[in-house]
Amino acid sequence: MAGHLEPKVFHDEVNVAPETVRQYAADEHVDEGQNWVEGNAFDPSLFAELVGRSTAKLKSFISDQSVRGLRLIDPTVLARRAKELATPVVDGLPHLDRFEAILNLFLETGIPVYSTGYMGRQFSGVLPLAGVVDFVSSLVNQPCAFYEAAQLPNVAERLMAEEFGGLIGWPAGRFAMLTTSGGSLANLTAMLAARNDKFPRFWPEGTAGLVGCRPAVAVGAEAHYCVRRAVGVLGVGETNIVRLPGDDRGRICPARAAEELDAAAGRGLEVFCLVASAGTTSLGACDPLDELADLAAARRMWFHVDGAHGASLLVSDKLRSRLKGIERADSFVWDAHKLLFVPGVCTLLFYKDASKARRAFRQEASYVFDTEPTVYNALDTADETVECTKRPMIMPLWVAWALHGRGLFARKIEYLCRLARRAYEALCLEPDFEPIHEPEMNILCFRYAHAPAGPPDFQVAIRDRIRERGAFFISKVDVAGRPALRVVFMNHRADVGHFRSLLSEVRAVAAELASGWPRPAPPGA
Ligand SMILES: Cc1ncc(COP(=O)(O)O)c(C=O)c1O
Repeated sequence: MAGHLEPKVFHDEVNVAPETVRQYAADEHVDEGQNWVEGNAFDPSLFAELVGRSTAKLKSFISDQSVRGLRLIDPTVLARRAKELATPVVDGLPHLDRFEAILNLFLETGIPVYSTGYMGRQFSGVLPLAGVVDFVSSLVNQPCAFYEAAQLPNVAERLMAEEFGGLIGWPAGRFAMLTTSGGSLANLTAMLAARNDKFPRFWPEGTAGLVGCRPAVAVGAEAHYCVRRAVGVLGVGETNIVRLPGDDRGRICPARAAEELDAAAGRGLEVFCLVASAGTTSLGACDPLDELADLAAARRMWFHVDGAHGASLLVSDKLRSRLKGIERADSFVWDAHKLLFVPGVCTLLFYKDASKARRAFRQEASYVFDTEPTVYNALDTADETVECTKRPMIMPLWVAWALHGRGLFARKIEYLCRLARRAYEALCLEPDFEPIHEPEMNILCFRYAHAPAGPPDFQVAIRDRIRERGAFFISKVDVAGRPALRVVFMNHRADVGHFRSLLSEVRAVAAELASGWPRPAPPGA
């Protein structure tokens, strides 16, 4: 407590001069009694009380088996409630009750990710063990880009790299794996490494270092928007994106891609990177990775795979072959916060050749980067990522993997992919629904077949009304330029019965909407 520190303590711990110590001690006495740090904010018994209250709520949150969707609230109403709770006195509620009220609001206004009614997005109810480790990570606060600040997380990162390297078939010690805060950042980082590898003068000189060449990136039509965004950030320019033609699921067609690349070369573009998808966001479709690896090799392009969604299939002996060719990628991205069920965010970025990981950034910063290699800085990754302070995001994954074993992850992913298949088969038997694709992973898109013409679009109206009614939460996506309903199976407690209930909900909503269709245009539209 302020004012109670003995000079001896300063001596032992930080070795400062005795006169400085006396000065510190005097300052402490000046502050004594002023309670300048909120009385019990750091009190361990307050901590225990907060954890106890949170645990009780979270236990019922994750065990709630009701089928429900999102409770969507007008943001101004929510802001008013949040503001009431944030002011020092409300309804005479004491501090801890207010904390509980905030927690309740947090839980009630979120997507119920553990409910079987939630089929909407690529994040899931997390493994409780992983969630608890994430909570511990928050308190121990070990930023992990440097070994000295996060020793166990850095070692765990190496252990997970070995584990996953074995699944990919990459020899230990030859490849690199690092964590980044999200797949968008990982894609950007890998593409930056690709750019600097091909155009080493771009980093120091910018576009002035590109005498007479026009760098370009080739992507499939269904690449996630973050890939195109990365092209902009890298200074390559959106107009220098070469769009590779695909099939009806948007999967890159290698023969037509080759023609497109020839045409791009004819226009003077130098395509340095080909980005493929292993699990597109819209349909969960996987590009033909092996053939695209051939194409990239033949043209000396960096081959990058965005496996943010689908790389998790690597953990399953039954499903891994669907990603054949990923082992030939120069780099690939894998979001563990999607199909490995750990809290967001935890992304793994892999480079086949470890030395290429250092291509992305070429900087010196004497306060953090040691030039002399030692056993203590060998695991530092700060010179390979955008981030300086970075959460030890590997910890939830490593602990869950170590204590539950790979089988848990594999069984869950296999179940979810099987469920998508069964749901597709059920859908095909319903004449009032239009299946759009056979699912390759855990994503299934379809349309309500008897949709009256818009605008607005009837499928979008269905998805919005379903969200408002709050029994299910699904998403929508454009497929071949037309909106469709999209289901992402992330919950192993869901089954085909839940999917059939969703179809009944779609029918009910469609009937409700059709009676007032077309909707009158809003005033002034
Ligand atoms: C295929 C794909 N790539 C990249 C991303 C972006 O990843 P993140 O949300 O982790 O930044 C997503 C997100 O949904 C995705 O589906």
